[in-house]
Amino acid sequence: MNVLLLGSGGRESALAWKIARSPLIDHLYCMPGNPGTAAIATNVDCTLSDFESIARHIYSLSIDLLIVGPENPLVGGITDFLHEKMPSLMIIGPGRDGARLEGSKDFAKAFMARHSIPTAAYNTFEVSQLEEAGAFLEQLKPPYVLKADGLAAGKGVIITHSTEEARLELELMFGGKFGNAGAKVVIEEYLSGIELSVFVLTDGRDYLMLPHAKDYKRIGEGDTGPNTGGMGSVSPVPFADDLFMSKVEERIVKPTIRGIAAEGMNYCGFIFIGLMNCGGDPYVIEYNVRMGDPECESVVRRIDSDLLEHLKAAAKGTLSLEKIKVSPKIAVTVMAVSGGYPGSYGKGFPISGLDADFGEDDIVVFHAGTAASGSGVVTSGGRVLAVTSLADSLDEALQASYRHLSAISFEGITYRRDIGKDLLDF
Ligand code: AMP
Ligand code: GLY
Repeated sequence: MNVLLLGSGGRESALAWKIARSPLIDHLYCMPGNPGTAAIATNVDCTLSDFESIARHIYSLSIDLLIVGPENPLVGGITDFLHEKMPSLMIIGPGRDGARLEGSKDFAKAFMARHSIPTAAYNTFEVSQLEEAGAFLEQLKPPYVLKADGLAAGKGVIITHSTEEARLELELMFGGKFGNAGAKVVIEEYLSGIELSVFVLTDGRDYLMLPHAKDYKRIGEGDTGPNTGGMGSVSPVPFADDLFMSKVEERIVKPTIRGIAAEGMNYCGFIFIGLMNCGGDPYVIEYNVRMGDPECESVVRRIDSDLLEHLKAAAKGTLSLEKIKVSPKIAVTVMAVSGGYPGSYGKGFPISGLDADFGEDDIVVFHAGTAASGSGVVTSGGRVLAVTSLADSLDEALQASYRHLSAISFEGITYRRDIGKDLLDF
């Protein structure tokens, strides 16, 4: 099978790493990919917003299966566009209607309400409803959660403790702080608890539960400072025991898939459910229509069965026949980021230590924001490398990732030294 994977981050590096190992693969292409994927696949240069050009590459490379890594092309309708031209192309990633679960927070909240899926109480307001929005804020207890309705590159959620600040933020959002994404704002109840990322592969009727993971979102140790795309991940986590996961499956996953089917959405792909464990009960914070990053790096390391076979079954609508095999080992990912991230940061710094060999098979360095320069590799993004290890215990996995990271360097290299520490004596 010829496979094309869209994207260039750590998530796509991890998917490429796994798919390249499948007995079903003939040729793997990554678009645009990165220097890490170049070692295991063929990188093809193309802009992900240029659907016509992507279609031409799919023809000329005789692609059988397309995997859309990031959300933007999905929300932009790439799946419908390609299916119209090539009905037999297998595509992992929902059509425009399903992608609204990530592309519009208001749509996602209304979907959850329609299907009785537990989530925070909310209301949505438009620019003309500033007064009503202010009045709704007064009814809530602090902290206040404001969400820009549309895609805002992970920055569209504001949590404040004062109504004055919340009102100010609301005005800024309506004033265009997040462009058109803030034309509508969801205001919701604050959920207090521990977050978990749950992943599902679905063909729109049946589903496979993939390993879950915890993401470390803040830049600073002890969960301080601004939010990032994610500074590390651990899979599995001790608080997601069998009882909790069965509640997640019964109360959230099954009604979500039934809702997708009942509403006739064209949905073949991943569902990433960000949820809060509130005293043992799960509540949905958000849906994403793709894998998480850096969760994906840890998740793929724990999938022992053939992910490409599962993806093919999803695209063919035969997922009910698939069985996933999940490793009992623990996977840990630590992200090395550019100095200054998530604010402004420099690029083009040479990376050394990528060839360091500790003789350990279970460590993989996934490229995220890197570029080739001459015969070397340089930094080219905020999140630069994801160091993932798999071991029998959390402690061993942490030690392996950190040992490996200490051999890698680039100017300004930053990483959290406390990934997974909160779970050690859980
Ligand atoms: P999102 O972009 O929806 O993932 O939100 C970003 C982050 O804001 C989440 O990962 C949570 O940490 C936090 N968050 C979002 N909604 C809520 C909520 N209702 N209560 C508490 N925290 C929230
Ligand atoms: N790590 C969170 C995300 O991928 O959105």
